[in-house]
Amino acid sequence: MKDIGATIWFTGLSGSGKSTISAEVAKILRKRGLKVEVLDGDIVRQNLTKDLGFSRADRDENIRRIGFVAQLLTRNGVIVLVSAISPYGDVRQEVRQKIGNNFIEVYVNAPLATCEERDVKGLYKRARQGEIKFFTGIDDPYEPPLKAEVECLTGQEDIEQSVAKVIEQFDVLCSNLAVSSACL
Ligand code: ADX
Repeated sequence: MKDIGATIWFTGLSGSGKSTISAEVAKILRKRGLKVEVLDGDIVRQNLTKDLGFSRADRDENIRRIGFVAQLLTRNGVIVLVSAISPYGDVRQEVRQKIGNNFIEVYVNAPLATCEERDVKGLYKRARQGEIKFFTGIDDPYEPPLKAEVECLTGQEDIEQSVAKVIEQFDVLCSNLAVSSACL
């Protein structure tokens, strides 16, 4: 039985490592023969949520739409890896409730200073210079999850450790669903 679906939801600041970890997790799960789909904030925003900006209402709408797609895929046996800042706790909770048991929240927790130092896309610099307004962590809020199933401390641990934590929790989910043989 290879048709277990689940959503693994990565939340955290821009540059915290969400996309990097989820890409590695995707590789591992695909090698197991599972169907995997990645919904990455940057890519989703060029397609499904092209019309949205970064106000609270728009971010919430972005997360709801991603959550809706994740829910459909999850119930059809896909492992969905979402990586989106998803800064607001309420809408994250809403999505968790909609998807139900097959849901893992991963808090990709790196200090703002680390994300800013990495500044892979050069956006923090632009935000500090006032060229981008309402940038998460600079002049827009990020509400850390209170009960994420996994916390990856990407400022301290290496990528393999973070990936291993996620896979471990995925395996726990599989055994809880009593279908571990399907996932392993
Ligand atoms: S979310 O807040 O709605 O969850 P999402 O993850 O889809 O955000 O998109 C975040 C990406 O958009 C960032 O990684 C960055 O590349 C880009 N971005 C552009 N403007 C902003 C902003 N004001 N705040 C955060 N990210 C921004």
